[in-house]
Amino acid sequence: MPVISVPQAFNEDELYVDLEPIFGRSLFLKCEGFNFAGSVKLKAAAEMVGAAERAGVLRPGSVLVESSSGNLGVALSMIAASKGYPFLCVTDCRCNLSTRLLMEALGSRVHIITEPDPAGGFLGARLDYVRALCASGDRYVWLNQYTNPGNWKAHYRTTAPAIARQFPQLDVLFVGAGTTGTLMGCARYFGQWHRPVRVVAVDSVGSVAFGGAPGRRMIPGLGMSIRPPLLDESYVDEVVRVEEADTIRACHRLARRGFLFGGSTGTVVSGAMNWLARHDAAGLTTVAIAPDLGERYLDTIYQANWLHDLYGEDVLSCDDADRRFPGSLPRAAGAPRKRRVRDMFEDPVKELARWENRSKS
Ligand SMILES: Cc1ncc(COP(=O)(O)O)c(C=O)c1O
Repeated sequence: MPVISVPQAFNEDELYVDLEPIFGRSLFLKCEGFNFAGSVKLKAAAEMVGAAERAGVLRPGSVLVESSSGNLGVALSMIAASKGYPFLCVTDCRCNLSTRLLMEALGSRVHIITEPDPAGGFLGARLDYVRALCASGDRYVWLNQYTNPGNWKAHYRTTAPAIARQFPQLDVLFVGAGTTGTLMGCARYFGQWHRPVRVVAVDSVGSVAFGGAPGRRMIPGLGMSIRPPLLDESYVDEVVRVEEADTIRACHRLARRGFLFGGSTGTVVSGAMNWLARHDAAGLTTVAIAPDLGERYLDTIYQANWLHDLYGEDVLSCDDADRRFPGSLPRAAGAPRKRRVRDMFEDPVKELARWENRSKS
């Protein structure tokens, strides 16, 4: 029975979902959302705060400041509350409302950037704001997740060894890339492991992290509008890029089987399934990392109007999902061919009647 006295002391590191029954291809999904911060970012936050305290940079009277798309902000809010530091999170208008409310509930202040920098995008504008704040007084402490080695070291020390313990025959690891802390920590660890592991980075289309053209990205967590300073591509074997519409489809496909994950998990799973479909993966042991759970995305990824407006009404067509994940379970005989978002969300009475008729027959 784990008994804790500070919230950061608990993290479930040994939970995996077997995705074969859902997607028809063997992939184990490591769930990083089961801690009090609700995401993988707890590890980076705890490591960076601990290191800053040991270095004497962070001390009583300090004010923590960080730029975050949300999850690191929540993790730092939790740790700051537990340790008694004030915390200001600088985010932008793509941050989920629930994430912002969570930070505020934990006692943090949230500053929202509404205008992107013409050259550096929203991230550039966020970083400019943080820099200006830090220049205004030395009690402000910016851990800077984009350059802080504690970000990747956390995963080198915890996430990667936890996977290695459970999967001694690991062949391929799929990791989503934001700051690339998770990716680099795992890639460095498995780069010196006793057997070769293929590390596949998963990025979103529109991110420039690994090169490529910048584009609209509405799902927070993965992707960067600058090249990630922590990234060392010599440790990464391959990069796959995922369209946000495919991210959405993967999220909803998981949700229809009772697994409500966050957007970046949809990206990683979609990228991994496409990779597996393109390779002779029979007999390979493969793992992907799910950074968080889905409750923070109820007003975006799991909300009909948001989906329609951004990705069109057909984004959740089942036929599409089956085509994109070759090898997945075929549609049952007699099952409806297409269910649009509107059917699923906006007509509960019809939906209930259909469901009752099906149960009677
Ligand atoms: C939901 C989610 N997924 C993925 C990531 C990417 O993790 P990393 O910054 O370690 O690359 C983040 C980072 O904030 C995140 O919040």
